[in-house]
Amino acid sequence: MTDFELIKLALEAREMAYAPYSHHKVGAAIESADGRVFKGCNIENAGYTPTNCAERTAVFKAVSEGVKNFKRIAIVGGMDNLTALPYCAPCGVCRQVLREFTDPKAFEILLAEVDNVTDLGKLDESQVHIKVVTLAEMLPLGFGPENLKLD
Ligand code: THU
Repeated sequence: MTDFELIKLALEAREMAYAPYSHHKVGAAIESADGRVFKGCNIENAGYTPTNCAERTAVFKAVSEGVKNFKRIAIVGGMDNLTALPYCAPCGVCRQVLREFTDPKAFEILLAEVDNVTDLGKLDESQVHIKVVTLAEMLPLGFGPENLKLD
């Protein structure tokens, strides 16, 4: 799958975002080691704190289906009244959740600036500007499962 294709799946996921309070809609698409893709959107709540980010929705969908090895994730987000999206980096909690299931040096995070999201059916590669970073770059000196090993 190309970077552009994975971003397109994240944009599709963003269409499902439930964000009536912040009006900030996010979509994510995480690719497993065996090439499966799980999509996720943010899901807000009137109680505010139960809100789940798009990235965690995607990871939890995958883990709950028995998939725990991942290669990369595409993330797109922006306010729901925008026709163009700025880069949207994952929050600290999502970085930590990704840390649990990935090798931070190898796991890639694809962020995209998108020129026009009004008609995804007509989306062209030239409208999408992709930045790729590793999780290690986004979460240096992270705390992970190996910190809790007894031996
Ligand atoms: N949000 C995400 O879905 N992912 C992030 O990494 C940043 C924030 C959502 C949560 C909330 O619904 C809205 O964006 C505003 O914070």
